Amino acid sequence: MTNLLEVTDLNVRYGGAKQLAVRGLRFTLAPGEVLGVVGESGSGKTTLGMALLGLLPEGAKATGSVTFDGVELIGTNEKRLRPLRGTRLSTIMQNAATALNPCFTIGSQMTALLRRHRKLAKAAARAEAIAWLRKVGIPAPETRLRAYPHQLSGGMNQRVVIAMALALKPELVIADEPTSALDVTVQAAVLRLLRELIDESASAMVLISHDLGVVAQLCSKVIVMNGGDVVESGPVAELMTKPKDTYTRRLLASLPARRGVALDPAALDTVGGHG
Ligand SMILES: Nc1ncnc2c1ncn2[C@@H]1O[C@H](COP(=O)(O)OP(=O)(O)OP(=O)(O)O)[C@@H](O)[C@H]1O
Ligand SMILES: [Mg+2]
Repeated sequence: MTNLLEVTDLNVRYGGAKQLAVRGLRFTLAPGEVLGVVGESGSGKTTLGMALLGLLPEGAKATGSVTFDGVELIGTNEKRLRPLRGTRLSTIMQNAATALNPCFTIGSQMTALLRRHRKLAKAAARAEAIAWLRKVGIPAPETRLRAYPHQLSGGMNQRVVIAMALALKPELVIADEPTSALDVTVQAAVLRLLRELIDESASAMVLISHDLGVVAQLCSKVIVMNGGDVVESGPVAELMTKPKDTYTRRLLASLPARRGVALDPAALDTVGGHG
């Protein structure tokens, strides 16, 4: 299978920083594959995600190569990147509250997106928005379209954000802690949903998480980051059951007991087929 994403020797440095925030990263992602990126706070996960989207803040510098479907993203100007983002390349951020505009209803934000990128007429965009809200498990979607973000729960808003990220059928989704703002029960449901939608659309995903339990549920392969470096990488089942690196072992050991089930090799069979 040809690779959708190829990352080679990716380095990122923030202006003024002595250390690289991301150092010598290298991985590939094929269509339909889900790569987990784990590591503790400050290890460079978000920086990697932003670099993949060409969204690093002013002053940060990325070198090396990131190609998306053969197109080089590093050093590419905004003009070439913008048509990719949102349509072929999409993102789900940690905090739905910041991704949604508080001044507009859910419906107007969703239909605007669908009209702009899919060139749908108003009624068709509305119908599609309703279908997507239903798909992400939002009850009474016709009514919810008229709601403002503050009128919905955090879990609902996160579902809306996921719907918006996937409604354009992107080939690659970068999800940065997509469920960490949600409570545990909602988290499990949203993760299941993400997995289903990704399978259905055959999109590839980079799932950033500090939580190996979440990664075990969704990913086929994993990279473990520590201080900007990749310290270990491999198929998720292997890494979970036979971690080689001491840092990975420490991360595994720090998992709360309730996630223990995800570390059972039998449970991992369910994700093994996606590698
Ligand atoms: N805008 C910025 N300017 C300068 N340094 C930054 C900036 N953003 C991140 N950093 C630094 O880059 C390193 C990696 O940070 P990053 O946010 O990528 O980590 P992370 O793995 O996503 O952490 P977390 O799990 O807390 O989200 C850290 O040392 C951080 O302090
Ligand atoms: Mg982060």
